[in-house]
Amino acid sequence: MRWVVLDSKEAVGIAAADQISRLLQEKPTCVLGLATGGTPLGTYRELIRRHQTGELEMSRVTTFNLDEYYGLDRDHPQSYWQYMQEHLFRSLPIPEERIHMPPGKPEQVEASCLEYEQEIEQAGGIDLQLLGIGANGHIGFNEPAESLQPATHLAKLAESTVQANARFFASPEEVPQYAITMGIGTIMKAKRIVLLATGEAKAEILSKLYTSPITTRLPASMLHMHPHVTILADREAGSLLP
Ligand code: F6R
Repeated sequence: MRWVVLDSKEAVGIAAADQISRLLQEKPTCVLGLATGGTPLGTYRELIRRHQTGELEMSRVTTFNLDEYYGLDRDHPQSYWQYMQEHLFRSLPIPEERIHMPPGKPEQVEASCLEYEQEIEQAGGIDLQLLGIGANGHIGFNEPAESLQPATHLAKLAESTVQANARFFASPEEVPQYAITMGIGTIMKAKRIVLLATGEAKAEILSKLYTSPITTRLPASMLHMHPHVTILADREAGSLLP
């Protein structure tokens, strides 16, 4: 794991966009794994800026998002589909057929999860997966547990995750308790992984991750086994690192 602590969350967004830009230069048809939440917003802003200034050509990429809330339609204002439209896709020329998100309301959960895995495989696998990290160590919505799921699956969100996500909903009852998420194996198959962490609220989990043995109780610790992981943290998130 390569650890990089930068001065600000803006610098984290720029550094993540740099990694994506470099990949795009090597491989304009690359496959990107994307995340939602607060952390990648700076990265998305920077990608849009680079697209607008002509520094970046993103029309040939394929994308797969990590997760989607279970039970929300695409057009629900809080769905991750809407989040991605608002913060990235509507500003970039990526054709809709190359944008993939797990379905929020699948008729057959297991079959759609399997189909998502197959689509990733058919696209040639993920070249670069962007990740955030939960304060409890989750990646995607692979929550701390006795065992972890390898592939895309329906996951029950931890109580702390539901509470953290509540900030985006009008009332606590509306916050989904389940999500469809890539599994740990799906994430680990990505050729490169860039995990972003910003703000004080991530300092403790990052310091735990730094020294953690590989354990399902801290799902991000699985990344210690991956050969190409970069952790980009801002000063606050990196404040408890040795
Ligand atoms: C989002 C996702 C989650 C978030 C994590 C951090 O697609 O898979 O693992 O990355 O919950 O969320 P923020 O960035 O809001 O702190």
